[in-house]
Amino acid sequence: MIPVFEPEIGDLEISMVTDALKKGEISGSFGHYITDFENAFAKYCGAKYGVAVSSGTTALEVAVAAINLNPGDEVLVSACTNIATALAVYRNQAVAVSVDSENRTWNLDLDLIEDLITPKTKAIIPVHIYGHPVDMDKLMKIAKKHNLVVIEDDAEAHGAEVNGKRVGALGDMGCFSFYANKIITTGEGGMITTNNEGYAKQLRLLRNLAFTQPRFWHEVPGYNFRMTGMQAALGMAQMSKIDRFIESRRHLASLYNKYLSEITELQLPVEEPWAKNVYWMYSVVLKSENKTREELTKFLYQKGIDTRTMFCPMNMQPFLKKQPGYREVSCPVAENLWENGFYLPSSSSVTEENVAYISKTLKEFFSKK
Ligand SMILES: Cc1ncc(COP(=O)(O)O)c(C=O)c1O
Repeated sequence: MIPVFEPEIGDLEISMVTDALKKGEISGSFGHYITDFENAFAKYCGAKYGVAVSSGTTALEVAVAAINLNPGDEVLVSACTNIATALAVYRNQAVAVSVDSENRTWNLDLDLIEDLITPKTKAIIPVHIYGHPVDMDKLMKIAKKHNLVVIEDDAEAHGAEVNGKRVGALGDMGCFSFYANKIITTGEGGMITTNNEGYAKQLRLLRNLAFTQPRFWHEVPGYNFRMTGMQAALGMAQMSKIDRFIESRRHLASLYNKYLSEITELQLPVEEPWAKNVYWMYSVVLKSENKTREELTKFLYQKGIDTRTMFCPMNMQPFLKKQPGYREVSCPVAENLWENGFYLPSSSSVTEENVAYISKTLKEFFSKK
């Protein structure tokens, strides 16, 4: 089976994690690995501060907590995303309002935003989906006009660029995931990047149970969202390879683009002229009238090719619909991605031979009556 993804863990990772263990850097409060990783990753993103946490999900939750919303406030979110994006809003007693996708990059459609803004709208969480960045220059203009806080969901887009600038420092805060299938991994883990000192302080406070002085005196409710030293050591090892990981994904995407270009039944991913797509996962959308995505992915699986479906959009999530203040928004493009989108094997271990085989198998499927 050609897996959808497998992480690349080498001797460097093993020796750095071992070093953290030997130094007793096992929890989230001691040692140098956590600050080293925060500094290195923030610098990579062009941000002043990095705050390491336990996952991408908790990065988003604590970032939303840091902007002090009132219950019932609204936050615009990309409809096509992992549930973690909307969950961060929900957990902060605010209402996530879905913004449909546009049909080229599959990112939120910036032309829909202004019509969705109400007096309750306080923030927006754009997701750089599958590695293609959102046009942050355009989005930040809209956000400024309406006084909205912007929290980027960068979980899938480490190193992606908008007009030559890396994501993570383009909004007010950026939230990354280091889950096993991400561009770099710490097993589980996440980070918030920001240029705003006030947010950085608040995030550090909240991730660590909001300890203040005197110790064990708590002015606000915090969370234990700390990253461990062992994870940060793994992250430092992965940082030394991040550029190679991105290049190998971009190379793989160029191979897929070449081999799949003749298959008219598939919509392939794009790279806008102002963007650097890091192709976290090589995603495609089935355009065929008479064949279903399920038939196709089942056929691929039988031929030893693993795939995953694209996300179920936020406007369809049952628990969000039950929330008081929920706003029904129609998202036909994101719903089509959920019905017809899927991604192909995207690890750096996928070879040109694999891509040729995947392409041949896809052509075989489409040539069947
Ligand atoms: C867009 C997006 N946001 C947030 C998350 C949550 O990250 P984590 O799995 O590290 O909690 C993920 C993914 O896994 C994601 O794809």
